[in-house]
Amino acid sequence: MPRVRLTITQLGPKGDGIAEGIKGPIFLERTAPGDEVEADIFRDDKGVLRGEVIKFHSLSPLRSTPPCPHYEICGNCTLQHLSQEFYQNWKQDLVQEALLKWGLTPKTWLPPIFLKGQNRRRATFSLTRKKGRLVMGYYQRRSKTISPIPSCGIASPDLIDLKNWLEPFLSPLVKEGQEVDLFFQKIGDSFELVFSGLPSLSKIILEELASLPPIGRVSLKTDRGIQVLFQKKNLTTQFGRLNVSLPPATFLQPTEEGERALVSSVVQAIKGRTGAFADLFSGAGTFSGPLLDFGAVSAYESNPHAIRALKEAGKNENLNAHQRDLFVHPLSSREINRFDGVVFDPPRAGCLEQAKEMARSLCPLLIGVSCNPATFARDSHQLIRGGYRLESLQLIDQFLWSHHVEVVGVFTKQKR
Ligand SMILES: C[S@@+](CC[C@H](N)C(=O)[O-])C[C@H]1O[C@@H](n2cnc3c(N)ncnc32)[C@H](O)[C@@H]1O
Repeated sequence: MPRVRLTITQLGPKGDGIAEGIKGPIFLERTAPGDEVEADIFRDDKGVLRGEVIKFHSLSPLRSTPPCPHYEICGNCTLQHLSQEFYQNWKQDLVQEALLKWGLTPKTWLPPIFLKGQNRRRATFSLTRKKGRLVMGYYQRRSKTISPIPSCGIASPDLIDLKNWLEPFLSPLVKEGQEVDLFFQKIGDSFELVFSGLPSLSKIILEELASLPPIGRVSLKTDRGIQVLFQKKNLTTQFGRLNVSLPPATFLQPTEEGERALVSSVVQAIKGRTGAFADLFSGAGTFSGPLLDFGAVSAYESNPHAIRALKEAGKNENLNAHQRDLFVHPLSSREINRFDGVVFDPPRAGCLEQAKEMARSLCPLLIGVSCNPATFARDSHQLIRGGYRLESLQLIDQFLWSHHVEVVGVFTKQKR
């Protein structure tokens, strides 16, 4: 493992600092452009050259003091050591570079939205037993070690309070050597918990959990799917005029503020239009509900539970919800032609085949929501080749201090 002195010159797309070594770029986590470091160099299991910082010779002026006391040991929030100005500019550059790679420039850059911390309504903690004691927290970076995290800069404080409060109850649950994950999601004023890595939960623990007022539902995730162990009440959320009763572990945008910002960006693009709209990758209806204010809505999504919940919530509305795998069976261009506007919000992998069909369509308005600028740009390139114009792009950062970022892009096509 050679030890070398390096200067960090830039930040890579995953937030690691990059220094130029004689054998190519070297990635050093938690560094900033301008840092001078002494580092041990190694290749990771993917063959990427990485550096383990042994000593900082000088620190970059682009740094600031990480606000979270657990920054050094926690595997999340890898960018807390950057000044706010540099961090926000870097996120904007990240989106711009992803678009430029495919030759894309929006006509208008809408003002970016940067959300603050302590607002995440969903988080997964890992549990293990070490020397007889339960440890519940987040994994350290590139490590199987779990660090106890009694406070958190990104999760909402009531989620962390509940997690801290639960720890003593959960102590008998985890045996030495066992690894258990516990997913928390806040829905309204209740929390749902989903355990995974356990064959079952004892009656005593279940009764204890059921007696805790904030806990509305507890489920167990196994290879066979998700089994609800108890549910005290319906866990519902409001999407526009739809009140949706959410099935266990339903996808929700990570923050309520982020959801509001994304919906507002989509609604802004639709304003003034009426007719029939499609919501592709609809989940349980984050956009379908607000779209109902503009006309009829057809939602498409592969998760049968989300579709069932959406159908039930929209049974008295002008809404059709369809379970459909859009990777295998994307909506054809002819199907898309029926709509006056389409919202698409795929997972991180994007939706290349669906984008090719949209590109061939004559639908006048497409609105893409994405948490991965790289696949968004790749799919947008198809739309541009098909005659669409990228009218506007808005960055919405609801993944504070991580390299993830959300974008909303608006595309139009003129009638021939
Ligand atoms: C980023 S989430 C967006 C969900 C929803 N639009 C929202 O904001 O809550 C992506 C959604 O795509 C769904 N999905 C993933 N793969 C899919 C596929 N092959 N076909 C259809 N839907 C899929 C997921 O179940 C998830 O609900």
